[in-house]
Amino acid sequence: MAHLPLIVQSVRRKRIGLAVTIWLQMCTVASWFLLTLGAIHSLHTYRPRIRSYILDFYAKRDYVKRLVYASDETCIEQVRMNRTTFFKLCEMLQILGGLKSSRNMLIDEQVAMFLHIISHHLKNRVIKHHFNRSGETVSRSFHNVLNAIIRLQDVLFKKPEPITANSTDPRWKWFKVLE
Ligand SMILES: *[C@@H]1O[C@H](CO)[C@@H](O)[C@H](O)[C@H]1NC(C)=O
Ligand SMILES: *[C@@H]1O[C@H](CO)[C@@H](O)[C@H](O)[C@H]1NC(C)=O
Ligand SMILES: *[C@@H]1O[C@H](CO)[C@@H](O)[C@H](O)[C@H]1NC(C)=O
Repeated sequence: MAHLPLIVQSVRRKRIGLAVTIWLQMCTVASWFLLTLGAIHSLHTYRPRIRSYILDFYAKRDYVKRLVYASDETCIEQVRMNRTTFFKLCEMLQILGGLKSSRNMLIDEQVAMFLHIISHHLKNRVIKHHFNRSGETVSRSFHNVLNAIIRLQDVLFKKPEPITANSTDPRWKWFKVLE
């Protein structure tokens, strides 16, 4: 009879152990269920976006790649700056100017389009054909980039310094008034 409390204690311990095991397994199943639910949910939420992004995305990127990223030579010819400078400008417009990529157009394509227009004085109709975009999209992204550039005017625009009459710059002598 002296053993009875010991037996009761060990039975109780076993029960507690069993309860803990069951609880842990329930937690595992519940978290697995929640994770699966979350994954399914995000898949359903993001699928349309990914689709619209991929629709013809690579064909359009191809033109930007040929225009800008193929070589420094074509880049300078087409957007009047080398690839390093182009990349820096894109970064500045994004970070300081607040330019954002739209749902199906990345920042570099918008900037390339803008620079291509202003460097060759191209019309919306020409650009829309080259970039395979609607005229509205071309116009909207042109204005977005223009706004970002205006926001950056303190950084980008060089302030002219007046040349004094006694300037020693050799290029200035051709403009001097002969006395
Ligand atoms: C790109 O252009 C910038 C400014 O004109 C110049 O400082 C830089 O050296 C050029 N980089 C290359 C790789 O040509
Ligand atoms: C332009 O895009 C349309 C659909 O957005 C596609 O059908 C057409 O083939 C594209 N044209 C070129 C030249 O990439
Ligand atoms: C040129 O003239 C300005 C005043 O017009 C004067 O302040 C400046 O020191 C002069 N510079 C030189 C190099 O003589």
